[in-house]
Amino acid sequence: MEPSLEAIRAEALGALADAAGAEAVNALSIRYLGRKGVVTQYLRNISSLPAEQRPAAGKAANAVKVELESAMKAALDRLAEGAGRPADAIDVSLPGRPMAPGTRHPITRIQEEICDIFTRIGFDIAEGPEVESDYYNFEALNIPRDHPARDMQDTFYISDSVVLRTHTSPMQVRYMEKHRPPVRVVVPGKVYRCDSDVTHTPMFHQVEGLLVDRNISFGDLKGVLTTFIHQMFDKATPLRFRPSFFPFTEPSAEVDIGCVICRGSGCRVCSQTGWLEILGSGMVHPAVFENVDIDTSAYSGFAFGMGVERIAMLKYGIDDIRKFFENDLRFLRQF
Ligand code: FA5
Ligand code: MG
Repeated sequence: MEPSLEAIRAEALGALADAAGAEAVNALSIRYLGRKGVVTQYLRNISSLPAEQRPAAGKAANAVKVELESAMKAALDRLAEGAGRPADAIDVSLPGRPMAPGTRHPITRIQEEICDIFTRIGFDIAEGPEVESDYYNFEALNIPRDHPARDMQDTFYISDSVVLRTHTSPMQVRYMEKHRPPVRVVVPGKVYRCDSDVTHTPMFHQVEGLLVDRNISFGDLKGVLTTFIHQMFDKATPLRFRPSFFPFTEPSAEVDIGCVICRGSGCRVCSQTGWLEILGSGMVHPAVFENVDIDTSAYSGFAFGMGVERIAMLKYGIDDIRKFFENDLRFLRQF
């Protein structure tokens, strides 16, 4: 006598519960549900039953077939999941890995702060190339070849006529070639000099400033720079204008800020002077105006170039400029 449908079902489910691996489950699948499988055979035999019994028998057998199919599939899924977990499954119950938020570099922030102050008093912002021709870096700024002033800036040469710009001043010329007065612009950017100690790095940042209009005097230069310094630091910060020399300005002045490291008593940062130089400035030299065809009988102007790192040192009380570029996160996280 053939086994009953219920006996086939019980036997199949029992065997499935004992199946140890995917191979065993697949074998059971073939044995019960394959082309010559027990359930398939049972279904085929239904056609030989009396007509009135066929519908009920067919329905019952199909239900068992569907039940076994899904039990086999569930068993295979369970086994695959168990095998896959250690290698590639994500355990959603684990706590997440924290990601430290990045911040802008202190030099970037000071540079933006400088530009913001000048933007508020009506200056535009421009940028220029770091690899510069000898013409813009020196020649057009009234520094001819063999001029001793070239020794003031230790230059990295790319070739005979191409340099890494030693200051942002070449942008004075580039900007005036494209813009007629009135001109009011600041130019932030990287500059390069063969130089390294507690107040000098081979790469540093400057913000150049240029203002050209009718009737501009040295008094305007002093007024604008004093306003800037009072906004950048506070009104009590000691500052002084000191006569200086640049081939592209006449007269020229450098601005010093009272050293915050020693409060003026003298230390290695201020070379025992109590002051730290932050910028060079002066009235634009007529020779520079001539190179860009600006009529010196109608226009005058002033320019300045400030060291961003120096301002950051004074603002944050940093006693060695090189700390900004060592990428020590313990240092950088303080800002
Ligand atoms: C100049 O570079 C002139 N171009 C400035 C200028 C512009 C004068 C427009 C007149 C008109 P100086 O070499 O002094 O000048 O540099 C300007 C500032 O850059 C310095 O006051 C200092 O703050 C900063 N600086 C110079 N060399 C370094 C260095 N190696 N590392 C960091 N900061 C520096
Ligand atoms: Mg100087």
